[in-house]
Parts: sequence; C-alpha cells; structure tokens
Amino acid sequence: MNRGRTRAVASTASVFACAAVAGSCSGPLSVLHPAGSSAASLARLGWFVIALMFVITAVMGALLLVAALRRRGQLTEHARYDVGGGTGWVLIGGALVPVVVLAGLYVLTLTALRTIPAETTDAEVHIDVAARQWWWDITYRDSLGGIHFRTANELHIPVGRTVRVTLRSLDVNHSFWVPRLHGKVDAIPGRTNTIILNATEPGVYAGECAEYCGAQHALMRLLVIAQPPEAYAAWAAAQARPAREPTADLAREGYGAFMSGPCSLCHEIAGTPARGRTGPDLTHFGSRRTIAAASLENDAPNLRAWIVNAQSLKPGALMPALPMFDGRTQHALVSYLQSLR
Ligand code: CUA
Repeated sequence: MNRGRTRAVASTASVFACAAVAGSCSGPLSVLHPAGSSAASLARLGWFVIALMFVITAVMGALLLVAALRRRGQLTEHARYDVGGGTGWVLIGGALVPVVVLAGLYVLTLTALRTIPAETTDAEVHIDVAARQWWWDITYRDSLGGIHFRTANELHIPVGRTVRVTLRSLDVNHSFWVPRLHGKVDAIPGRTNTIILNATEPGVYAGECAEYCGAQHALMRLLVIAQPPEAYAAWAAAQARPAREPTADLAREGYGAFMSGPCSLCHEIAGTPARGRTGPDLTHFGSRRTIAAASLENDAPNLRAWIVNAQSLKPGALMPALPMFDGRTQHALVSYLQSLR
C-alpha cells in the first residue's frame, strides 16, 4: 500500500473514531446531552461543529484517495517537485477555505453565546456559590436577599424555573461546570460572575471544577439535583430548619464528641454551638448524597474513613487527620452526622 492510500485509510479510521466518541457522549458529563436551555444552545453548536468536521475529514480523505490512485508507479516517472503549478490548490484549500470556515464558526459561536443570558430579573431562586480549595460553599438567599440557609457541594433547583447563581472564589481561580445544564464559567477572587440555570427535566446532574486550582482540583466535584417544584420547596423548607437533636444514645455521644472536639471549630451546625466557617456547613449533612466535594458516596464506611484520615483520601485538603478518636467515638460521630437529615 503506498503512502497516499495509507493516509486515506488513516483518515477513514479517524472518522470512525470520532463517530465512536460522539456516540459515547451520553454520560453524566456530556455536553451533547443537554437538560437546560443554555446547554442546549451549546449542544446545537457542538453537533454542528462535529458534522462540519466530518464533512471536512471526508473531503480531505477523498482528495487524498484521488491523489493516491491517479498517479501510480515509480517516483522517477513523475514530474519533479519544483516544476511549479498547484498554487490554486494551496491558496483555496490552505487559505480561503479555512478563513471562510473559521470566520463562519466564529459568528455562529457568538450567536450561540448571545442566547445564553448573563443576568435576569425574574429568577425564583437565588443561590450564591463560593468556590474554595476544594469544595463549593453554597448559600441560598431568601426573597429579601438575606441568608436562607447554607449547604455544600450539592445544589438543589426546581425544574422549569429560573435560578440565578452567583459565582465567587475565596482563594484561587476555579470554574463552575455542570455540562448538561450550562457551559463553564469561572469563579474568580474579587469578582462575581452570574449564571442562569434552567433545568428542563428532573435529574441529578454531575459537575466539576474546570479550572486547575491545586492538588485536589480533580476531586472538586458537585451535584445539581433538579426536582419538581413541590419537591424542591419541601427540600428547601427542611434545609432552612435548624439541625434536629440526636435521640439515639450513640448519636448523642457523637454530638458530644463533635461539640467538644475540633470538629465544631471548622464546621457549622445551625441550632448548635458549632459555628465554624472554615469547612462545609453540616446542618443537614445526613441528607446529602456525597461527601468530600461529591467525590465519595455518603455512607458510613466512607464517612468514618474521612473523619479518621481525610488526608489519605484528599491530600492537602483543610480537613486534618483526626487520630485522637477511638473506634467507639468514630462510630458515634458517624451516627450523629448521619442523623442530621
Ligand atoms: Cu477548583 Cu479546579
């Protein structure tokens, strides 16, 4: 097989590889599987770019094939490389076509961006998200702009309603990205960016930090849980209540250990003496699906491992290793935290 044909086969293979990639784009972080109006604009643009890429690849492959088949034989039978000619191909294929294609894509991208609102006056839910190394500090605002309640790493929103989210950073640059709902928007120290979320169907949408922000950037994830409006309202009402008091003996023991130990210095639990603001608010911790910025499932073994040695799971996180708790106290702390529903 000569070189031209090898290239033609390689182009065809790349077309199939791209088709395979596009076909697998229905995962939790797929930009091609939108569930919100902003993401839908970006998905349309994405599909167009992919289709255009297929056309260009097919044309290139066909040209290579024609060139390979047209002149076979020995190298010595062909004209020398420096006899001239072919300038038209270079000018049209190498300059004109790329300029037209790229300029067209630029205009289409600007058009798609214009459909994504950067501000709104009719939002029903207002949420402040503060990015921190390496988790998301979430504050829901009440109708007067005051603090309604705090939570972390898991955003609940009502389906079909407009949700205004402000993004800030308390340390370095981060980027808030929930691909099925919205494109990436940076969270920058000293600046507030606003995005409008509008989920069109209920679901749990995965997100992550999309700007390198230090050692645990890869474990700075989040979830957006879009619920029917009634379910959302029930959730928000429950979140706004102070923490429930532990009733079971083990959970009460855990409460004591939490309040007298180092935990309460960094975490807040509304309705208790714990008032720390360094770490996530834990008032309704037991109702969350995940821990450690959505990187681990919220179950007893993970929680216990996190309490004992968070540094082995997420080296560099502010949560220190806590070797001072004996086995029973670890169980008690887990029991108390899980009771915070
Ligand atoms: Cu925060 Cu990457």
